[in-house]
Amino acid sequence: MTRTVRIDRERLWGTLMELKEIGAYDDEATGLRGVRRLALTNADAEARRRCVEWMTEAGLEVRVDRIGNVYATRPGRDRSLPCVLMGSHIDTVATGGAFDGTLGVLGGIEVMRTLNDAGIETLRDIEVGFFTEEEGVRFGTDMLGSAVTAGRIPLDHAHKLTDSDGKTVEGELVRIGFDGDAHELRPIPYAYLECHIEQGPILADAGVDVGIVEGVQSISWQRITVAGEAAHAGTTPIGSRHDAGLVAAAVVVELRRMCDSGDFGQLRATVGNFDIGEGQTNVIPHQATITVDLRNPDDELMTAAEQHLGEYVETLARAQGVQTTWERMAKTAVVPFDAGIQNVLASTADNLHLPYVRAMSGAGHDAQEIAAPCPTAMIFVAGESGGISHTPREYSTPDACGNGTDVLANAVLRLADRT
Ligand code: GLV
Ligand code: MN
Ligand code: MN
Repeated sequence: MTRTVRIDRERLWGTLMELKEIGAYDDEATGLRGVRRLALTNADAEARRRCVEWMTEAGLEVRVDRIGNVYATRPGRDRSLPCVLMGSHIDTVATGGAFDGTLGVLGGIEVMRTLNDAGIETLRDIEVGFFTEEEGVRFGTDMLGSAVTAGRIPLDHAHKLTDSDGKTVEGELVRIGFDGDAHELRPIPYAYLECHIEQGPILADAGVDVGIVEGVQSISWQRITVAGEAAHAGTTPIGSRHDAGLVAAAVVVELRRMCDSGDFGQLRATVGNFDIGEGQTNVIPHQATITVDLRNPDDELMTAAEQHLGEYVETLARAQGVQTTWERMAKTAVVPFDAGIQNVLASTADNLHLPYVRAMSGAGHDAQEIAAPCPTAMIFVAGESGGISHTPREYSTPDACGNGTDVLANAVLRLADRT
């Protein structure tokens, strides 16, 4: 018979509120307190150490791998069987909130405490982990730690990635003391479950706290650098300019037109970096660098969008007499999650009398990488204010977090007792 457990909502909430103080900053735009905990910074290191303390206090065996991913194990009766793994990330974007990633990690630790309190033994080991540089904000590649673990990105390549100051992933891992010795290609789990805030409006619109995630859409990140020519703003005829800023701005507008056109399905495009160097009022910009973030739930339409963008930029660059260089930062295809694990989540939610909807994820997650080596699915938790995220306005309620983590706990329990 399957046992039912309930996590301690106040205890979970207490850890979420405590962790958000690490890397906290005053956000001028919103007047709120946000979280800035970029991967492998001192704030990330402090948050990592706090999570390791919580893991150790829960009696877990902690190990760190060579890309800085941290795993903590609760032994099962048969240690030869593959474990059930829970996890997510604790790094944030520069304008982050308290829930993105941390809910899955602190929720996973809370599951361990709950099983301890109930004196429950499981057949399989259960692990909870957090992956390095999920956000990709500091070193330019998202889902980095999980992609290395899944074997998609070689360790050596990941170690050599640099931040904007030229600091390497490897050097920063060593500096903060999280250059572990466990092999990054970890033993393949029996299943991976990630609980995460939705970061969008679907659950709130449906009036439910819980979502079962069907998969993650395709993500394409590129950096485009435009090289034009500096010249006098007052004297250079319009037709003789090689204006790098103009080309970069035109790309932003074209991307929006592409989204609005419907020609590329449900394409979403964002230029989140727009840099035209020194910025002098009376000088035509000679260089511009932008990043392009494309998302699409359809791989073919994603390819079509990338091709169109390439052709558009080439034509524009020729017309304006500028050179462009492209750097591929990240690219992942649509990842469908395991139907069997989704069904375990669905029947677990039913048993807990928690209504849910099924939805694709708009955001990227470590689960999309771990889905390659093992059966994987995700639980979404509704956020407030349309699920707004990557801003200090990100918020979810203690009850929504508790409900999602109850689903996580009971689904893990079922899977960990499977022969
Ligand atoms: C992860 O936060 C993403 O960019 O989707
Ligand atoms: Mn996240
Ligand atoms: Mn995020």
